[in-house]
Amino acid sequence: MEARLLSTVWGLFLVCGLQAESTSVDLVPEKIAGFWKEVAVTSDQNLVLKAQKRVEGLFLTFSGRNITVKAVYNSSGSCVTETSMGSERNIVGEFAFPGQRKIYVLDTDYEHYAILKLSLLWQGRNFHVLKYFTRSLETEDEPGFWRFWEMTADRGLYMLARHGRCAELLKEGLV
Ligand SMILES: *[C@@H]1O[C@H](CO)[C@@H](O)[C@H](O)[C@H]1NC(C)=O
Ligand SMILES: *[C@@H]1O[C@H](CO)[C@@H](O)[C@H](O)[C@H]1NC(C)=O
Repeated sequence: MEARLLSTVWGLFLVCGLQAESTSVDLVPEKIAGFWKEVAVTSDQNLVLKAQKRVEGLFLTFSGRNITVKAVYNSSGSCVTETSMGSERNIVGEFAFPGQRKIYVLDTDYEHYAILKLSLLWQGRNFHVLKYFTRSLETEDEPGFWRFWEMTADRGLYMLARHGRCAELLKEGLV
């Protein structure tokens, strides 16, 4: 029940409890623009994983300090997209969205992988999830995945994303 409520509150986002984690890269936000396939999700809060829509991929667009996140997921057989607009905060790599939602870029090499933290403050509680993305539809980019693993090994709960055709359609600009 609580999981269902959460998922209506935030859709593609997850909640968060953010300890101020700084980015480990000198981030140039615009360079993470474009398509990313979601490979894995982790959270230390089981509720957060249960509330997750099974996002298959993201397409990020930047305009000045604004960011647009288009997420795609498979809803009963159709590829559905959800778009959120946010803006960069004063900390590089931190983006805020309406509804007390945030995205932090924790690590990326721009070309192969990205590790993002998505957070939400909901009913006075912080929820968060870390997500691992690759540019490629085919590979999981092992060096990047190893970094994700190291960063999240203490969290315990993992969920592998679905490898579906919706990500492919998003990458090709067909949804
Ligand atoms: C950023 O978004 C704001 C609010 O939607 C808008 O007023 C502004 O023109 C946008 N800036 C750019 C550079 O797109
Ligand atoms: C969506 O998921 C259903 C089963 O859950 C699958 O049969 C279908 O092929 C998927 N659609 C796409 C476009 O990936």
